[in-house]
Amino acid sequence: MTAFELIRALAHNAAIGIVVTDKVVDPPGPTILYANPAFEQLVGRDLGDILGQTPRFMQGKETRRETLDAFHRALVAGERFHGYLTNYRGDGFKYRAEIDCRPLRTADGRIENFVAFEREVLRRIGRPAGSAAGRYEPAILSNGALTTVLRSLAIFEHV
Ligand SMILES: Cc1cc2nc3c(=O)[nH]c(=O)nc-3n(C[C@H](O)[C@H](O)[C@H](O)COP(=O)(O)O)c2cc1C
Repeated sequence: MTAFELIRALAHNAAIGIVVTDKVVDPPGPTILYANPAFEQLVGRDLGDILGQTPRFMQGKETRRETLDAFHRALVAGERFHGYLTNYRGDGFKYRAEIDCRPLRTADGRIENFVAFEREVLRRIGRPAGSAAGRYEPAILSNGALTTVLRSLAIFEHV
């Protein structure tokens, strides 16, 4: 079983958005190969309008170029990207996404796919914080079995 197959099997009922792409970093890639129902809900689009697309379709005027450049650099280097991006739903509604993206490697270390865990976050009110993680909190608290898995993988740093 590949890492991708394992994710497909586990992600369906997760409350957190999970999306898998191919390994092509530059346009027309990365191409979305799998997205779970929570991801459809997060981005406000049906699966039919998501599969085969590049995740760039969520970007818009207020999506910071510097953050996208850091994202791109991490993908090229085969490193984890953890950050916050302004994205837009199918109906144009703007939201803030926390994204934890990692390469999926074969046993011999070759990158096969990328997977991202994504959730909506809201700005904490009246609490200026030094780090981005302290500035935001999840819009919906995740619970259930997957929380333990996410925590053990240090996804989002703290769930
Ligand atoms: C698995 C995966 C999920 C991604 N999800 C998002 C996303 O939700 N929102 C977004 O703006 N970019 C997302 N991206 C990043 C873009 O696909 C792209 O890599 C980014 O815009 C930087 O590359 P560019 O400078 O070529 O545009 C994702 C990338 C990968 C590999």
